[in-house]
Amino acid sequence: MSVPTSSAQWSTRLGFILAAAGSAIGLGAIWKFPYWAGANGGAAFILPYILFTFTAGVVLVMAELALGRSGRGSAVEAMRRAGGRGFVWCGGMAVLTSFLILSYYAVVGGWCAAYLAEALMGEAASQDPEVLKMRFGELVSGRNIAWLFAFLAAVCLTAVFGVHRGIERLSTCLMPIFFLLMVGLAAYSLLLPGSEAELAYLFQFSWSTVTPQAILNAMGFTFFSLSLGAGVLVTYGAYVNKSTRLPSAAMWVAILALQAAILAGLVIMPAVFAYGLEPDAGPGLVFITLPMIFAQLSGGSIVAVIFYFCLFVAALTSAISLLEVAVAFLQNECRFSRRAAVFLCFAALFILGSVSALSFGPWNDCLIFGRSIFDFLDYVCTNFLMTINGLAVAFVVGWKAWPKAMKELSTCSPENGVVTKGTLSAIGFGLRWLAPLMVLASCWQGLEA
Ligand code: PFF
Repeated sequence: MSVPTSSAQWSTRLGFILAAAGSAIGLGAIWKFPYWAGANGGAAFILPYILFTFTAGVVLVMAELALGRSGRGSAVEAMRRAGGRGFVWCGGMAVLTSFLILSYYAVVGGWCAAYLAEALMGEAASQDPEVLKMRFGELVSGRNIAWLFAFLAAVCLTAVFGVHRGIERLSTCLMPIFFLLMVGLAAYSLLLPGSEAELAYLFQFSWSTVTPQAILNAMGFTFFSLSLGAGVLVTYGAYVNKSTRLPSAAMWVAILALQAAILAGLVIMPAVFAYGLEPDAGPGLVFITLPMIFAQLSGGSIVAVIFYFCLFVAALTSAISLLEVAVAFLQNECRFSRRAAVFLCFAALFILGSVSALSFGPWNDCLIFGRSIFDFLDYVCTNFLMTINGLAVAFVVGWKAWPKAMKELSTCSPENGVVTKGTLSAIGFGLRWLAPLMVLASCWQGLEA
């Protein structure tokens, strides 16, 4: 099997961490987290989310990275090398999962691009909820496909430039800007009257608000938000050089992902409270509730541009990571050139994505097991495919190839420190017992939802 060429390598540790964080920080952090936290009792959701991120979540990130770096190829190659021929199908399933996720993720990415364009033209905000609902409805049932095309074109264009010149450069440039802007937005939002109520809601923990459902939801969210179970971190891991210490890199990715989600909560919630709106408004929070708030803020049109820019960047960097799984597969297993692989993916994703996009408009009465095509794909990917992949990684790395994985996890250049035996045992324990438990529980939560 072919091995990635030397050009397919991250040039710096920081570049790799920012690219992986860019994958983790996506629509999940900015779009889903605030309304999930709102709907699940604030702190009762956030604290378990933090706990799961730094236990089972981070060890699965380490496992995927180790699997990728020792495989030095696509997700399929990584599974073949670590688990043997019998596990090749798991790698194939990871490729399929990332591809399917990207097909519908790009639809929402297109909405983000559309709202950014409207904000730039000064048209995103309005005080009238009916106007906002109508505008959102028009977008998702009409111009959807054109925006899907534009979003996929941006994703594929970055991918054509390659791992270092495309993905790494873009992430290194955009992620620091993203964080700076989000901190600025959060500071602005916290200065609004009534933000104390929001801080209390988000961070004042009380046992009475904890429900089993909130805990299960937090598990599911942790899994999705760290980009686990879709071969992304396995693929990104293959481009990491041997001098990088994987456990600490994984820790950084988890810290950045968590920070982004909390920042998004701090940006959105005070504004929602200040204007007396409901924090559990659902997916419409970002596209319908927020524009109403922007219309009432002083400097609201600039705030809207900054907010939708951040949302767009988050969606773009995650989508790029999802595409890389299929591109690496086509390059390594089918010997495609990078350009041909990206082009083929673009065409296939546009066709499949259009089907999801149409499920908001003309095809909205075409239901599969009672769900629209978009919802059905999301349901199958997050509840079954990602779960099975997550379990396969935990099994292969934690049980089947643990000695090899231990070596990979402790490999780094001496100046980057050492990974102690205690750390390795803790990772091993987390991977064998905690991670499968979290994955299964999050699957159960999804099935009940
Ligand atoms: N972590 C991304 C988000 O929170 O939006 C979504 C995601 C990206 C999930 C990549 C899975 C994945 F492989």
